[in-house]
Amino acid sequence: QHNGPATEAAGAGSLTSSLPTREGWWTPFFFFQGFWLTPQAVKSVTLVQARFQPRADDIILATFPKCGTTWLKALAFTLANRSRHRVIDDKHPLLTQHPQDLVPFLELPNRALHLVGELEALPSPRLLSTHLPYASLPFGVGTSSSLGCRIVYLCREPKDVVVSMWHYYKKIRPDFLIEFHKAFELFFEGFSLYGPFWEHFLGYWNQSVIDPDRVLFLKYEDMMADPTKHVKMLAEFFRVPFSEDEENAGVPEEVVKLCSFENLKGLPVNSTGKADRIGGLLMENSSFFRSGKVGDWRNHLTEEMANKLDCIVQEKLKGSGLAF
Ligand code: A3P
Repeated sequence: QHNGPATEAAGAGSLTSSLPTREGWWTPFFFFQGFWLTPQAVKSVTLVQARFQPRADDIILATFPKCGTTWLKALAFTLANRSRHRVIDDKHPLLTQHPQDLVPFLELPNRALHLVGELEALPSPRLLSTHLPYASLPFGVGTSSSLGCRIVYLCREPKDVVVSMWHYYKKIRPDFLIEFHKAFELFFEGFSLYGPFWEHFLGYWNQSVIDPDRVLFLKYEDMMADPTKHVKMLAEFFRVPFSEDEENAGVPEEVVKLCSFENLKGLPVNSTGKADRIGGLLMENSSFFRSGKVGDWRNHLTEEMANKLDCIVQEKLKGSGLAF
């Protein structure tokens, strides 16, 4: 890491000019409020922090990238909207819209002023998503008071995250040329988009310990092991618990099925076509669905790499109560 001058070519001008910067991925990242961001993301985050007006009934889905955002969006949308959209219905929005498009991101590289306005126009209660670390959430979202929004945080075993991340960048970025072992090293050093990942995890984890009614902390692996239990937990957290009739009719299980990796991956809206979701980068809809497995790292990491990452994770999370 070094303090280098931000270039105009980097795209965010004066905002990034005083920030530490480092190269290694497809573009230089900047160290902003304790996290690594692209210059465009610095701009977007700054804008959202200045302009976004949280509401007490907002629900925020927060994730570190590649921890299961798409899945959480699908589940949350289905649960929160099931009075409007029956789960078993051939007109359910998930059958024709990508989960990424059903829950908007707070920050995005293309989050221009008018798009912050679009968030304002959404009816309450809003369902929003973010990759922002806890400490960088716009004022009011993270506030520990009755005015603060509720937050669901989903994290994932870091070895699977780095594998998922590398494949994703390979697929969506023609300018992403680095080999897996190099990406692994950068990730291990805490240098990745929105990294260090351990700081990201800990920010939400610590808050979930202090304020469990407001911050629900989930792990991808636990959700995969018992999705029905988690669907019920989420419904309660969203204050739309399943009624006895719904339970008897198997609605929780239907939500699990509708949002399952196999089902979503196979839908034409998710398996074909492309969209520009971040501004200037057309990506295939299928890039959000790869293998959807726990433990795929075994196919990509040597034993040495796995031990190395396990050690740093253990060291960084030590004493927090969070473990993988
Ligand atoms: P893999 O690359 O390991 O397959 P994100 O949505 O945060 O970008 O995370 C993407 C990861 O979640 C990918 O992991 C993807 O396959 C997986 N995923 C997407 N939809 C899923 C679903 N419905 N259930 C479980 N995993 C899902």
